[in-house]
Order: sequence, then structure tokens, then C-alpha cells
Amino acid sequence: MKFFTNQLIKPYILESGYQSLCEIGAQRGNNTDEFLQVASLVIGIIDPCLDADLGEKYRDNNRVQLHKGISLDVLPRISGQFDCILIDGDHNWYTVYHELMTIEKRGLLKPEGTIFLHDVCWPYGRRDMYYQPELIPKEFMQPCKRQSLVRGQSEPHSPNKHAETFSAVHEGGERNGVLTAIEDFLKENRGEYKFFYSEEEHGLGVLRKTTSTIGNKIFNKHLRRARYRSVVPRLNNVTKVKFPALYSSLRELRDKARRKVA
Ligand SMILES: C[S@@+](CC[C@H](N)C(=O)[O-])C[C@H]1O[C@@H](n2cnc3c(N)ncnc32)[C@H](O)[C@@H]1O
Repeated sequence: MKFFTNQLIKPYILESGYQSLCEIGAQRGNNTDEFLQVASLVIGIIDPCLDADLGEKYRDNNRVQLHKGISLDVLPRISGQFDCILIDGDHNWYTVYHELMTIEKRGLLKPEGTIFLHDVCWPYGRRDMYYQPELIPKEFMQPCKRQSLVRGQSEPHSPNKHAETFSAVHEGGERNGVLTAIEDFLKENRGEYKFFYSEEEHGLGVLRKTTSTIGNKIFNKHLRRARYRSVVPRLNNVTKVKFPALYSSLRELRDKARRKVA
């Protein structure tokens, strides 16, 4: 996430003149600390604090307000409006779709605001992940287990009882994954938002509510950059599938070059 925060989100926030951010899913606050480097930014965190006591961490910081809990409990009662919202919490269709619907229905995003969403590509773009499966209504849950996922591969993987989260056994299909949730949300809110996503680092979606020339300009600038940068991961994937021997040789060369630099 740090990659996107520094390469895309922080510059985007500065260019858009945003002053407030709601961060859904902050874990240990590593990313929050990056955002705090933007001097004027005020941050609301929504996180159940499963991994760290964020209340303690930000106790003396008056630019951070913690709403301890899961997003679908907090979003319906939180007050105010945000310039931008980062969704990086529970990466499953049910949660993300309802987060977006609640944000829209409650008007939690200011006009010209932007929602950033992490993990819109492999592995969770088309596959649900659950931190706490017991909190998801049964009818919205994919069959899931604790399992290891292999980078770039969609097939079912080996069980892993040490995995921190549960993930859907099957990839794809209806109501499965973060990108599917965004697409389903957009079907119901067509024309209201502009959307693109970057394919690097598990993917970052950018959803902007804009009617202004300047808003469109900023959005289009980052869309063009993301398209340009996506060429390399795409080429990587095609080479890996179609020319595995070439892919292995290129990786060996890359690793050798990296060892030399180190
Ligand atoms: C991928 S981590 C976030 C990482 C963080 N954005 C960063 O880059 O440092 C996901 C976090 O979301 C939290 N989480 C899980 N389910 C959630 C939910 N329903 N609402 C809000 N946060 C949730 C988890 O406790 C975890 O801290």
C-alpha cells in the first residue's frame, strides 16, 4: 500500500487540495503515518483494531480520530463528509459493495471527492477474502477456507491453517471479489463516478465524483500514468503464461542484477 500512497494517493490529494481522509482498514497505522506527512490532512480511521491499539497510538494526535469497529457498523452512524476515502479493510464483495452504497446514500463523500480502493487485482479482485467470516451474512458468503494463494494463480490452493484470513475457494463468478463489488456499485450509480484502476501491487481503484474541469484533469492525468505503468505488469503476466522459459531466464537476469547492486 505504501507504494500507492506515495506514488499516487499523496500527489493526488495535494493536487486536489483535499483536507480530510477517511481510512477504512488501518491495521498498525503504517499507512496513516505516511498520510500524516501531508501537513494539513485530518484523518478519520475506521478499524476494529485486531492487530494494534490504534487508540493508544494516536491518543495525543489531534489530526487523527479513531472510530473503532467494522466499517458497516461505523459508516451508517459517522458524521461529516470527507474529501477522500481509502477502502482497505475487509476485501470481499459484501463488505465493499455495502461500504460504497452506504457512502453514497449517506453523502459521506464531498462533491469532487475520491474513493481509493486497494486490492482490486489479484488475489482479491475476483476472490473474496474474509477477516471475520462470522460477520458476513451466510447468503453473501463464498465457500472459503484458510489457504495459501500463489502469486498470479487463480486455481484452488493448498490449505494453510496458519493463514491469517479466509479466502474463497473459487475465483470469479457473481458477488465475488473487490473489483466485482465496484462494478456492481457502478451499475447502480452510472454517470455519477469516473473510475480507473492501476494494476501494480495488487491493484488500486480510483473512483472520483466529478463534474469540474480541474477534477477531470487530475483524474485523467493519474489514469494516463496508471495505464503507462500497467504495461510492465501486463507484459510480465503474458510472458509468464505464454513463454515460461523466457520468463524464468528474465527473472534470473533480474535477480542477478539486483544481487550485484546490493
Ligand atoms: C490490509 S489491512 C490494512 C493495511 C493498511 N491500510 C496499511 O496499508 O498499513 C486491513 C485492515 O482492515 C481491518 N479490517 C478488517 N475488517 C474490517 C472491516 N470490516 N472494517 C474496517 N476494517 C477492517 C483489519 O483489522 C486490518 O487492520
